[in-house]
Formats: sequence, structure tokens, C-alpha cells
Amino acid sequence: MTLRKPTLARISGVGVAVPPKLLTNQDLEKMVETSDDWIVERTGIKQRHLVEHGVTTSDLAAEAALDVLKKTGVSPEDVELIIVATITPDMHLPATACLVQHKIGATRAWGFDLSIACSGFLYALQTGAQFVGNGVHKNVLVIGMEVMSSIIDYTDRATCIIFGDGGGACLLQPSPSEQEGCFGDFLFEVDGSGGDSLCVPAGGSKMPTSQETLDKRLHFVKQDGRAVFKYAVRKMPELCVNLLERNNLTGSDIDLFIPHQANLRIITASAERLGLPMEKVLVNINEYGNTTAGTLPLALDSALKRNLLKKGDLILFATMGAGLSAGAALARWGF
Ligand code: UT7
Repeated sequence: MTLRKPTLARISGVGVAVPPKLLTNQDLEKMVETSDDWIVERTGIKQRHLVEHGVTTSDLAAEAALDVLKKTGVSPEDVELIIVATITPDMHLPATACLVQHKIGATRAWGFDLSIACSGFLYALQTGAQFVGNGVHKNVLVIGMEVMSSIIDYTDRATCIIFGDGGGACLLQPSPSEQEGCFGDFLFEVDGSGGDSLCVPAGGSKMPTSQETLDKRLHFVKQDGRAVFKYAVRKMPELCVNLLERNNLTGSDIDLFIPHQANLRIITASAERLGLPMEKVLVNINEYGNTTAGTLPLALDSALKRNLLKKGDLILFATMGAGLSAGAALARWGF
């Protein structure tokens, strides 16, 4: 007797939520000692979107969830699981997934948050795919969403030029066949020895919020940019190459490379190492900056809007970020 039938899982739709307000490089020139030229040359970023005061991660996540449900014609009551990848939850508790469940009226769904910064969405995507793949669920929402402006110090030029708000949601469903979309192999890796190079020092159990932590601005993101950069340019291509090799693939088999949008120089270095021309690389960091767990669903949305994806295409996703953490994953596009 078979209790459950394993199946293929695929991405059936993509929704997004991006706040309309812009923070341009020219705006930042008036706030900190920086220049449009420096930011563009060192990062590729021209602008980021920021929420108005009071707009939360669950507000944006619910907007992205309703967007993908509308596009796919699935009703909120049919959603069974909601996974929210975020490091900017509305509150430490409850989980943002619970707030989203209530806001969208997904009355029969359970859910949880997944917190591993920039790698969050790719890890959440694979986690969600397991619940579809093992035959337990037919409609899983995986959301990557951030209000990074809530943890960024707009007096710190080393971080405030990079991050933005926004993200998106994917609906995962069973797939009738590999050519109609499926998840492939993945390779994930973390290295906690580099944890201090990108962190929010205060507000957790290590250093609960106090007047002193507030005065020292320790509740904001602190980053050793060079250390993270070095890790990224080494690790992201390394995982991609190893993943391709163990699947007997090369860069030329990839139709679209969708990397985490952290820095244009990291993206181009990875593409070069994989032997991929930039036409096969999704770049939208100029429009959104680094939205942490939000970058990959936003990149998927850009790929669809630019008609860069067709049924049967092979996608290589790559990520890296705080943890330190990194990952590479293969997926076949299904629509
Ligand atoms: O999703 C993961 C999140 N994080 C990352 O991916 C970050 C990875 N790292 C980076 O993207 C880059 O390291 C940064 C963009 C953060 C910085 O670029 P960099 O080329 O590594 O610059 P740097 O930190 O080595 O600094 C070079 C110079 C320094 O001046 P001196 O010491 O050479 O005089 C900095 O003080 O640039 C200065 N600098 C700036 N100048 C103008 C640093 N930030 C700025 C700024 N504007 N915003």
C-alpha cells in the first residue's frame, strides 16, 4: 500500500510587491558622503524602493501573495502552506507567515518563517518544493520579502547605499512532467565562522535591546563589505560549477542564470567563471538594489516581464549572504 505518491514540483506563478517610493543615488548624496559615480561603479545600483512609514513586511508579502494567486487563479482557501523568507519580520513573534495567512484569508494554510538573510528565498523555495514533491501539498506559497529600511542605518554609507525594500512570491504546485517545470538538484552551504561579517549585533538574546545598544546604533545592519565580497566571488561560482559538474552540465546548457542581486561585480564575476554571456544573466540590481530575501522573486518577475523565460528552459539560481551562507539550484521553467 502506498500512502503518498512522490511527484515533481514546479513554480506555477510569480507575484511581486514593491513600494512606489524611490531612494535614488542622488538622494543618498544629500544624506551621506557618497556619489552616484561611486555607487554605480562599485555596486551597479541606481535606485532602491523604500516603504512609507508604517508599511510592514507582512503587508508587502500579502500583496505579493494575492498577486500570484490572482495570476494563477488559485483561491486563498486552497493554499496549504505559506513559507516567508525574511530577516525583517513585522515582529520577533508571531511569525510573519501567520500574519500573511490571516491577511490573505488562507483559512486552511499553516506556515512558518525562514531566516537566513539573502539565501532565504532559495532555501525556502527548496523547502517548499519538498512538501509538494513528497505528495503532501498541492499549493504552497513561498515568499521572499523585506523591509530592509527598518534595519538600515541611513548615516552609514557602507550599508545604506546597498539595500532596498520589496520582494515577491512564488506558487509551487505539482508538475505533470519535467518539460512542464520542475526543481532539479541543489547545493547549499553555510559557514558560521563568518557570521560577524554581516549581522545585526543587538536585539537578540546575545545583546538584548538597551539604551546603550540604541545609542551605539547596534540594532542596525553592520557589514564588513570586503569580507562578504571575497566570500561571494569565491563561493557563488564555486557552488554553481560544482552543481553543474555533478549533473553533467556546463554553462552552455543554462538558458538563464538568476543570481542574488548583491553587487553587479559579484554577478559579472560569477557569469565569467561559468562562461555565460551577460544576455543569459538576469540583472535588475540597478532598479531595486539588494532586497535580501526579495531579490530572487523580483528577478524572476523581471525575467518574465522581459520575455526571457519559456517553457522547458533550464534556470540556474545562485545566492549568498549573511551566515555566511550560499547556494546554487537548478530548475526547469514550466510556462
Ligand atoms: O547580500 C549580501 C550583502 N552584502 C554584500 O553583498 C556586500 C558585498 N560587498 C560589497 O558589495 C562591497 O564590498 C561594497 C559595495 C560594500 C563596498 O565596495 P568596495 O569596493 O569593497 O569598497 P571598500 O569597502 O573596500 O571601500 C573602498 C573605499 C574606502 O575608502 P578608503 O579606505 O579606500 O579611503 C571606503 O571608505 O570606498 C570608501 N567607501 C565609500 N565611498 C563612497 C565605502 N563606502 C562608500 C560610499 N561612497 N558609499
